[in-house]
Amino acid sequence: GRGSFGDRGGGRGGFGDRGGRGGFRGRGKPVVALFVLFNTYRPFLKLAIQRFLESCVILLIFPMKGVFICRGKEDALVTKNMVVGESVYGEKRMNVEEGETKIEYRAWNPFRSKLAAAILGGVDQIHIKPGAKVMYLGAASGTTVSHVSDIVGPEGLVYAVEFSHRSGRDLLNVAKKRTNIIPIIEDARHPHKYRMLVGMVDVIFADVAQPDQTRIVALNAHNFLKNGGHFVISIKANCIDSTAAPEAVFAAEVKKMGSENMKPQEQLTLEPYERDHAIVVGIYRPAPKSKK
Ligand SMILES: C[S@@+](CC[C@H](N)C(=O)[O-])C[C@H]1O[C@@H](n2cnc3c(N)ncnc32)[C@H](O)[C@@H]1O
Repeated sequence: GRGSFGDRGGGRGGFGDRGGRGGFRGRGKPVVALFVLFNTYRPFLKLAIQRFLESCVILLIFPMKGVFICRGKEDALVTKNMVVGESVYGEKRMNVEEGETKIEYRAWNPFRSKLAAAILGGVDQIHIKPGAKVMYLGAASGTTVSHVSDIVGPEGLVYAVEFSHRSGRDLLNVAKKRTNIIPIIEDARHPHKYRMLVGMVDVIFADVAQPDQTRIVALNAHNFLKNGGHFVISIKANCIDSTAAPEAVFAAEVKKMGSENMKPQEQLTLEPYERDHAIVVGIYRPAPKSKK
């Protein structure tokens, strides 16, 4: 792919005023004609050269399905924008031409999103991919949710649960433009309240930063997560126990998951993007129902 970040602004290139007029007398009409031609097309030429130079340094690589890294002057994690021409929270956009079609990507900042931090931190799998149905607990204003919406695309769905009405207002606005987001302004501790709105999901992502987060995820998993579905949980150690060592807190949470039929498969810390945070990824395997 080739492309350039949308809001870099213009003003580059070496075709500014070079000064000096005249000097054509006696050199004949072709030179004058060439000069006029050059001047007429100067803005287009400048743009073409600028694009060419930028396309040389930008290359998209794919760490996982639906997530890309844009290699340029500064590397950036990006997702394909579902709503072309619009940013959600002031993030940079990058246009890429692939044949006739124009594709736009949005920069995803790992310092603002734990999911992005996990990807750049080298997590093996997030299980959130094109077409997936995702339940997102702790959606806040919808910044990370918007990237999840980009990843799952028009074939996927994001059930975004957030109990704060203030953040919920922003989330509703994000969902207005992104039809694959179903905003749910409810407490994730009471899944029966939104049972009618939600189908079975492939993945639960949780970032509620609550001491009982694992129990909250388990409650939702028992109601909505497919057998063999996955969970991705961001754990903030001091939200659970500010006196214990973070590693001990993570280990205790992992143990709780085990007793809820949630089998952890991968764990990593979010350094250098977040301190004392871990991401745990695992698979949900409910016990078979016993015959009466
Ligand atoms: C750390 S923030 C989430 C940030 C968000 N994931 C992002 O990347 O943009 C935690 C959010 O979880 C919400 N939250 C906490 N407890 C909740 C609950 N029981 N039900 C629903 N939302 C909850 C909070 O209101 C807050 O917006």
